[in-house]
Amino acid sequence: MKKQLYIQTLGCAMNVRDSEHLVAELKEEYDLTFNLEEADLILINTCSVREKPVHKLFSEVGYFNKVKKEGAKIGVCGCTASHLGEEIIKKAPYVSFVLGARNVSKIKEVIKKEGAVEVDITNDESTYAFNDFRSNPYKALINISIGCDKKCTFCIVPNTRGEEISIPPELILREVKKAVEDGAKEIFLLGQNVNNYGRRFSDKERRIDFSDLLRMVSEVEGVERIRFTSPHPLHMDDKFLKEFATNPKVCKSIHMPLQSGSSRILKLMKRGYTKEWFLDRAFKIREMAKGVSISTDIIVGFPGESEKDFLETLEVVEKVKFEQIFSFKYSPRPLTPAKDYPNQVPDEVASKRLTTLQELHHKQLDELAKKEQGKVYEVYFEELKPNGYVAGRSDNNKIVKVKGSEELLGEIKKVKITQAKRLLLEGEVIG
Ligand code: SAH
Ligand code: F3S
Repeated sequence: MKKQLYIQTLGCAMNVRDSEHLVAELKEEYDLTFNLEEADLILINTCSVREKPVHKLFSEVGYFNKVKKEGAKIGVCGCTASHLGEEIIKKAPYVSFVLGARNVSKIKEVIKKEGAVEVDITNDESTYAFNDFRSNPYKALINISIGCDKKCTFCIVPNTRGEEISIPPELILREVKKAVEDGAKEIFLLGQNVNNYGRRFSDKERRIDFSDLLRMVSEVEGVERIRFTSPHPLHMDDKFLKEFATNPKVCKSIHMPLQSGSSRILKLMKRGYTKEWFLDRAFKIREMAKGVSISTDIIVGFPGESEKDFLETLEVVEKVKFEQIFSFKYSPRPLTPAKDYPNQVPDEVASKRLTTLQELHHKQLDELAKKEQGKVYEVYFEELKPNGYVAGRSDNNKIVKVKGSEELLGEIKKVKITQAKRLLLEGEVIG
């Protein structure tokens, strides 16, 4: 019998894909289990973007150590592994090895070496052909670049995932074809700065950008939907907007991480765009791609953020009417310049701003929900839900559930909305 592998994934979609790669590399020797106590190998794939998930790591591995079976190994992978390295084993000596976010292909080597710490952020996995494993047969996550060359002053990612390298297009297309053959209709392209694709390849020179790649992926037979995350507002040039808006395979939902609505704060964050640029792009997208959903990330309480700066963020939110906002209190991170900036914002002030922002957003979502009744969406069903429901997403990324069973999974159907709540629509299949 094969050994058993338990894996816990925290953080972003790139971590989800890295976990799939870890499982794929180990699948000859290990089967996946959801039962911690029977696992021979326990992996935790960590996130370090804010402080909270780092604390969670140590409480989780402590718990794993208590309940694991005799002789089982614990490995810490991902971004926190990259930035804390051997400190993890010093603090939690029962951890057998540490494997960084950019070292996933080394998993088979590190499990054999007790105390191994493999966290080199210059490691280049852009042409490494990982084994095959997908946790979701309907939606294929596919990395198109690794690392990030931006230096946003709040963000630890460039220090955990290293310099940006694009994966060669022929490798991406090979993966897309394979995923479609295996039944996926939706391709989800991933990178920390996905629309900067083509910036640098480690194997040879090429002239290809993200818009070209979108076109190439959409031409693969069997691909019906393409999504991507995370793009950067700075790189949303007219060529990109046109491809996004006019390519029918590209889903009309886009993530536009605003971070702040104040150009002064955006400059301190080194985001590279102004409030005006952001608004211009958002309005153009709304105009060119009818029915588009725009989601965003916003940080409140960045060092030096005044009440006036915060009001500018609210103003952008008022104007753009995002369909989804991921909002965070600023969290000072090691290895980032902003942690040493003057005028750190007190926690009570940041908390109050977070609440104000979320209340405004909820009000907007309630308004939006009222308009959903009776609308018809094309929904791609991908998940069974309790009480006889099946859920999927509309082209513009709304989660829609209908009464139904397995036979809807993997199907795209027309659904008429009968009930609408903030982030969940209910409807009936009409064709
Ligand atoms: N390029 C990636 C960024 C990963 S971090 C992406 O766009 O998904 C994801 C989000 O976490 C960022 O957009 C930002 O809003 C938030 N974030 C990053 N560092 C943070 C910090 N130090 N404090 C609070 N939020 C942070
Ligand atoms: Fe982080 Fe900015 Fe890159 S948020 S991942 S440094 S684009």
